Amino acid sequence: RPARFTLDPAFTVGTVDPRLFGSFVEHLGRCVYTGIYEPGHPTADEAGLRGDVLDLVRELGATTLRYPGGNFVSGYKWEDSVGPADERPRRLDLAWRSTETNRFGLSEYIAFLKKVGPQAEPMMAVNLGTRGVAEALELQEYANHRAGTELSERRIAHGDKEPFGIRLWCLGNEMDGPWQTGHKTAEEYGRLAAETARAMRQMDPGVELVACGSSSRAMETFAAWEATVLAETYDLVDYVSLHAYYEEIDGDRDSFLASAVDMETFIEAVVATCDHVGARLKSTKKINLSFDEWNVWYQRRFAAESAAAPLDWPEAPRLLEDSYSVTDAVVFGSLMIALLRHADRVTVACLAQLVNVIAPIMTEPGGPAWRQTTFFPFAQAAQYGRGQVLDVRIDSPTYGTKAYGEVPLLHATAVRGDDGSVTVFAVNRSQHDALPLEVALHGLELGAVVEHSALSDEDPEARNTLDEPERVAPHTVAATSLRNGVLSAVLEPLSWNVIRLA
Ligand code: AHR
Repeated sequence: RPARFTLDPAFTVGTVDPRLFGSFVEHLGRCVYTGIYEPGHPTADEAGLRGDVLDLVRELGATTLRYPGGNFVSGYKWEDSVGPADERPRRLDLAWRSTETNRFGLSEYIAFLKKVGPQAEPMMAVNLGTRGVAEALELQEYANHRAGTELSERRIAHGDKEPFGIRLWCLGNEMDGPWQTGHKTAEEYGRLAAETARAMRQMDPGVELVACGSSSRAMETFAAWEATVLAETYDLVDYVSLHAYYEEIDGDRDSFLASAVDMETFIEAVVATCDHVGARLKSTKKINLSFDEWNVWYQRRFAAESAAAPLDWPEAPRLLEDSYSVTDAVVFGSLMIALLRHADRVTVACLAQLVNVIAPIMTEPGGPAWRQTTFFPFAQAAQYGRGQVLDVRIDSPTYGTKAYGEVPLLHATAVRGDDGSVTVFAVNRSQHDALPLEVALHGLELGAVVEHSALSDEDPEARNTLDEPERVAPHTVAATSLRNGVLSAVLEPLSWNVIRLA
């Protein structure tokens, strides 16, 4: 039987915040060095930014770009990363057991955002691992204060006359994780986050602040951590963070394809926890969610590789360079759908990461840049997923999974643009069977299918590589129709679909 749902503009979830299409630049592996920054590369500009990567970042449509970590930030000394580049210190990066040259720093990051274009917005993390309130304030003053103080004048002397205007700040990173340098208990972190937030607001009440939530739903402290941290910070922060990575485990592809079930459960549990704290505080304020790390990541493979790696502190080593298959892209698209389905509360999200490190964009030093399979769902969602998310109640055949029980074969959402056009984003989780889809359209003035684009392949393992960078790309599905207020489509097995109606 077909999968079905109804669209009606009277029933909406919320407006998509452009920040939902953020990504992440960490000083990790080759994300920065030989990723976005490679002086001497044939396409590099005078600042050493790779032009081929800039083009792909613009095409990807990424908006908010989180920086400089990640685990890296918990040992970060911001003052190492400013001033004349050849005078900056080399430092040990404990998080990734690498040597950080600081050749690329804060000013270069802001210059990179400007080059990406007006849609790019900074999202800066402060170090609450090895540092605290004072250093966060110093960074904020250096970055944002116009002039007339030692730190703002230092920025000006370094060549940045205009303040950076960073509004969105992360209060540390994954402070619940024992792997984090300077890891803390929820009580310790909640107090530090609250005092840092209070002080940052004293400097500028307009900053937007993200408190660290859990590193994943699987953390033992999950939910209790959020409740404790928010009890301290509720009136001082705007967001709580969520991080989640998914991978296929022991060949269980059916469960992997249903990863978004976990993501949606995670989001709903964090919303409930935020609202519970708000209720206890008798507050009318709502805390929103910053899903500032999400992706498919073969973490087990990384753990095995890093256990075997030599301990010799390399510069910009090849780390976390996952190559993504069509299957990975379908799961990735489904995660994107999960975020859109919760656009009322998830108002910031960052695909971790942007280049080379579990990334949609890959590069070769001195060589080309190319799009991974996951590039396409992100770029299409960032382009067409703007407007109001419509409430999609799915009626679908199901399939059995070990991890999540019975799961609908269809995962979908729909977004209505300001011009009245509607885009349906849909995933067929079936590995072997096509899935007919019928969508009843109520109260929508839609006359035609503009395009049905699908990402699927006879070979679910197909991927784009240095040798074959254009092996995988979306294709058009011709037979999709819109008649008498019903959209009819057939979703290919294991496919990501974008159906545009106008
Ligand atoms: O994105 C890779 C790493 O994953 C980040 O540095 C960290 O925050 C998370 O554990």
